[in-house]
Amino acid sequence: MIDQAELSAEFEARFGRRPRIFSAPGRVNLIGEHTDYNDGLVLPMAIDRRTYVCAAPREDNRIRAVSKAYPHAVEFEIDAHLPVIDDWGSLVRGVAAHFLREGRRITGADLLIASEVPVGAGLSSSAAFGIGVGYALLSVAGEMIDPVDLAETIQRAEQEYRGARCGIMDQYISCFGIAGHALLIDCRSLEYRAVPIPADRTRIVVCDTMVRHNLALGEYNARRAECEFGVELLASQRSEIASLRDATMSDLDAAQTLLPEHVYRRCRHVIAENERTDTAARALEAGNLEIFGQLMYESHASLRDDYEVSCRELDLLVEAARVCNGVYGARMTGGGFGGSVVAMVETAKVDAFSDYLRSRYTVECGVEPEIRVCSADGGVRGER
Ligand code: GLA
Repeated sequence: MIDQAELSAEFEARFGRRPRIFSAPGRVNLIGEHTDYNDGLVLPMAIDRRTYVCAAPREDNRIRAVSKAYPHAVEFEIDAHLPVIDDWGSLVRGVAAHFLREGRRITGADLLIASEVPVGAGLSSSAAFGIGVGYALLSVAGEMIDPVDLAETIQRAEQEYRGARCGIMDQYISCFGIAGHALLIDCRSLEYRAVPIPADRTRIVVCDTMVRHNLALGEYNARRAECEFGVELLASQRSEIASLRDATMSDLDAAQTLLPEHVYRRCRHVIAENERTDTAARALEAGNLEIFGQLMYESHASLRDDYEVSCRELDLLVEAARVCNGVYGARMTGGGFGGSVVAMVETAKVDAFSDYLRSRYTVECGVEPEIRVCSADGGVRGER
């Protein structure tokens, strides 16, 4: 965990003045995967692993950023069309450029960034980074912050400066997260309903396969394109269908002969996942963790078979969770192709579950997984 006083002292030693500190959380998605860019429903929670951004304004128009995770600093003059360069500072440039294009008055700033959110684990390290930096830049410039605007700006910056055609889920939950709650987010209306997680009965355990596939980005964008193609074909049958959110299983079945087989399966996943997410949120509200857990397993099977974004290591962890005592449900979480499995586990069984998963995974995959018990935390904020 990051010590804020230490981080602040480091900033002062490096930049010669006292910073303000801001932080934005990573997230774990409980259910509703690959639905956000289809105008669908998602149920993530912000986690108690955060990215901290120390910031102080400068007299000039330059941004100088230092990260605890990388040796070299990033420095540039604020401009609306900064180049996309493949380094850790790309998103800092992207955030600054997008604010400018949208008419936000940001000033020069020095930044020191440190994160507890692991990269590539499917816990949205880049959204935590982008939201933290964006919030810090607006705050030190004295600009008003509308959280929906902030989430959308960071989403656009990530799309352009990271090349991922991501949806809005990660940035949204990093802004709006509420301690002790998951949020059922409607990615079409951008409204949410807070759903309490019964912390006395269950803990959310995230198990990182440590697998990082570099095909993930290309596959992600390909899935998105397949969904768009599916919508085009479905709309030729019923013109009201503007996104997969509008399509029903009967629309899909009626159009089956029009759709390539794999596109049919992609659409089937999204339509079913929206239904599962809605049902799961209601089950959680009713305290029915058994139903919730079943839906997690069904979501995983659909991501594995229909959407084809799982991998051997994720499947193995989900199957291992299934035979464990005290597990309500488990599934892969995030974009897929590696990253983490999320499990809902009876509080008293968390240690036994973690031990079992760790030893079984280590034996079968030859690496030790990183296991994190997470609590639902609040969204982006000024710390001090
Ligand atoms: C990544 C993207 C999100 C979402 C998930 C899959 O995390 O950033 O927008 O699409 O994958 O649900």
